[in-house]
Amino acid sequence: MIPTPHISITDKELVAKTVLMPGDPLRAKMIAETFLEDVVQINTVRNMFGYTGTYKGKKVTVMGSGMGMPSIGIYSYELFKFYDVENIIRVGSCGAYTKDLNLYDVILVDDAYSESSYAKTMGLTSAKTLKANRTLNNRALKAAERLNIPVTTGRIHSSDVFYNLKGSVHEERFEKNGCIAVEMESFALFANAKALGKKATCLLTVSDSLVTHEATTAEERQNSFSRMMEIALEVARK
Ligand code: HPA
Repeated sequence: MIPTPHISITDKELVAKTVLMPGDPLRAKMIAETFLEDVVQINTVRNMFGYTGTYKGKKVTVMGSGMGMPSIGIYSYELFKFYDVENIIRVGSCGAYTKDLNLYDVILVDDAYSESSYAKTMGLTSAKTLKANRTLNNRALKAAERLNIPVTTGRIHSSDVFYNLKGSVHEERFEKNGCIAVEMESFALFANAKALGKKATCLLTVSDSLVTHEATTAEERQNSFSRMMEIALEVARK
């Protein structure tokens, strides 16, 4: 069933087995331009840009996911189910829930806690925590070690809400649920991987802190993002 309602490419061969997914489609464009060779564009629908190219000779696709679980839920499902994608590595940003994390730290997600009804609504599970794939995570840890990039592993919070009226929600999620940081996509991505027998994980860069209220500058975000991308690309290359 391709093309799908949200992805326009009609040739499956132009979608790699491993897809890197930043939230921002323009970030996908930048990644393709910076890191990949022989790039072809595979999606323009809704400006959710996607590209396939090669990294050190290996075919890799990079495509935006949009923000939030409904959005990444649609794109990752279609890639897994209809384009025969095997691995999706989300590469995103997050807000720190603990003062032990500094701006620009790189996190490798062990599992995602969420209040989201995504997995339950799709008929998969009522579990509130879903795991990242262990094989991908082991590869990411080895790549990080080789590249000498420090990585923190842990549970993150996939939230449906960016602007939360309850000021202390980060304390509650950290203390009660063990979440070290917050983003808005991983839980749905992991649900789709589980539902379809595929692999998914997530690398995050800390872009702001809900504890200290510091935030990154655009330029520094770019640099730290590159370190996370190097890890993700090495995982894709395996
Ligand atoms: N909340 C949710 N998602 C995020 C945040 C945040 O503070 N920072 C980066 N992604």
